[in-house]
Amino acid sequence: MDSSEFEALDAGTIHAALGDSADAFSLRILPECDSTNARLLADPPPDDGRIHVLAAEIQTAGRGRRGRVWQSWPGASLTFSALWRFAPGSPVPAGLSLVAGLALARTLEELGVEGVQLKWPNDVLIHGSKIAGILVELIPGRGRTPAAVVGLGINLRLPDDAVVEYAGGVTDLAKCLTSPPGRNRLLGLILRQLQQLFEVYAAAGFGALRGAWQQRNAFADLPVRIIGEADEQRGVCVGVDEDGALLLHTDDGVRRILSGELSLRTL
Ligand code: BTN
Repeated sequence: MDSSEFEALDAGTIHAALGDSADAFSLRILPECDSTNARLLADPPPDDGRIHVLAAEIQTAGRGRRGRVWQSWPGASLTFSALWRFAPGSPVPAGLSLVAGLALARTLEELGVEGVQLKWPNDVLIHGSKIAGILVELIPGRGRTPAAVVGLGINLRLPDDAVVEYAGGVTDLAKCLTSPPGRNRLLGLILRQLQQLFEVYAAAGFGALRGAWQQRNAFADLPVRIIGEADEQRGVCVGVDEDGALLLHTDDGVRRILSGELSLRTL
């Protein structure tokens, strides 16, 4: 194990890891906060053309999708959010959480992790077990440039007694690599990928990244259930469309699914 794996977050070290992308970011690190997403949403930084990143050593009320709690442990997780503004007049962003998942998948692959998969809409898996979750929350216009807060929570080394319920089980980076990178370098690498993919997305939309996402689709051509707010739909997962909607092949034809929880259908 790399002794820097549990190093404290440090803006200078992260800036160094960002290399020539450093000027594109502003970085803020808090020893503790309720939720990095909640903080950025409540008090968005000024629009200065940069991506504003807020990372916390400890989150006391980490938010997951669908009103769930996101659990993390001091030093054993990486929890941060990036506020990204769209060009004025941009349409409501579609597929942004898939873009963030792809950025993390590419970072893990660059580090040598095998079996990286994406689960629609925003989980990152390693051979079926969840290593990271993503929560995208939008800041509506009101005269300012609309922005998105993209929050990522990554398991680096789960405590032995951690209880996390997830159908496929959970995993952490320490189980995937014999020498995991330090947290600062890891954050720098993820931010570089995020910036690159945000730029592609801004120029050409999710369609330009769709193929890369589908190559890593954990449920490609598998029978799945989509659990929505009020109903459940069954079919075969045939991929995602240009807007990041899930394409579900049902008895009635192919349906576009905009939100919901995907689970493998047991026959
Ligand atoms: C999920 O899998 O349900 C999404 C989890 C997202 C967790 C991250 S941790 C950093 C950011 N701040 C939050 O409160 N949530 C996101």
